[in-house]
Amino acid sequence: MLRTRFCDLIGIEHPIVQGSFGPWTTAELSAAVSAAGGLGSIGTTLLERHRVRQLIDSVRGLTDRPFAVNFTARPLADDVFEAALGERPAVISHALGDPGDLVARAHDAGALFMQQIHTVEQATTAAARGVDVIIAQGSEAGGFGGTVGSMALLPQVVDAVAPVPVLAAGGIADGRGLAAALLLGAQGVNIGTRFLASVEAGIDQSWKRRIADSHSEEAVKVEFANAVFPPPPPDGYDVSPRVLRTPFVDEWNARPGEVAEHAERLRTDLGDAIVQDRAHELVPFTGQTVGLIDEVLPVAEIVKRLVAEAEVLLRRAPTLAG
Ligand SMILES: Cc1cc2nc3c(=O)[nH]c(=O)nc-3n(C[C@H](O)[C@H](O)[C@H](O)COP(=O)(O)O)c2cc1C
Repeated sequence: MLRTRFCDLIGIEHPIVQGSFGPWTTAELSAAVSAAGGLGSIGTTLLERHRVRQLIDSVRGLTDRPFAVNFTARPLADDVFEAALGERPAVISHALGDPGDLVARAHDAGALFMQQIHTVEQATTAAARGVDVIIAQGSEAGGFGGTVGSMALLPQVVDAVAPVPVLAAGGIADGRGLAAALLLGAQGVNIGTRFLASVEAGIDQSWKRRIADSHSEEAVKVEFANAVFPPPPPDGYDVSPRVLRTPFVDEWNARPGEVAEHAERLRTDLGDAIVQDRAHELVPFTGQTVGLIDEVLPVAEIVKRLVAEAEVLLRRAPTLAG
């Protein structure tokens, strides 16, 4: 059994969180992770209040275990946040900017608050806001991230915010990553890419196949993202997305000087692609763990393997010290 303080705090069996997938969220995936003993997350990006309520209802129809509802600061839809609080989720998670008074609002509604960060300074600020859990996300991660890798970031954050529990994110896809994160001082892990390549994930099959077939080098940073999307608000984090290479990403990463003059068209192209459910053709958000993943698996199997592998390694670990 891999029980940590984080498990006790949330009331879950395994110290494993499924990171939110923003506009690619589905109730089936979130519920499957929670039902398997981890913590599933519902993404709210671009969703209206009624849709978020529906998703919460759907997850509750599939499992009675806790789950998180995720928001980001790019931008935060305050009415949707308020509506989510009204549904009394066990956990609110937040990313991409200083959480400010969102922490107190979540606590007032009875929810725990998890904040994702990319630097030590962001972590100490979040801890001072009173967050319950910090997710230290290294630059290997799929989706938006910073520049420091997990191996360097995680122990620094653990030291800086103790005793606030820290989850490791970015670069973890199997039991070796989970065991290593716990040894580095994490109380659990927040995993994205491995859960994208699951049977229950709602993404296009071609995207899942690419995750199973790609090497880590295929998961690149979208260098030009900040010239296209509105710059982060004053309290937002300086981040850029990691995605699988596409002709679109290769073209504009190679023409950095020309992005600004085409920004409006690129924004429209990306916006249309999201609405038409083909954003994965342009920017399939994915992390460097693609190189570790070679099959699409059911969520229950992913969680079972993560825990079983980590347990074997951690039992063996003491023998390494002689
Ligand atoms: C497709 C995709 C969409 C994401 N959307 C969000 C999001 O809306 N909110 C968020 O906090 N994190 C988001 N992330 C980050 C993940 O929740 C998670 O923290 C990250 O993928 C962990 O790194 P890994 O991919 O190396 O496992 C997204 C990641 C991916 C791959």
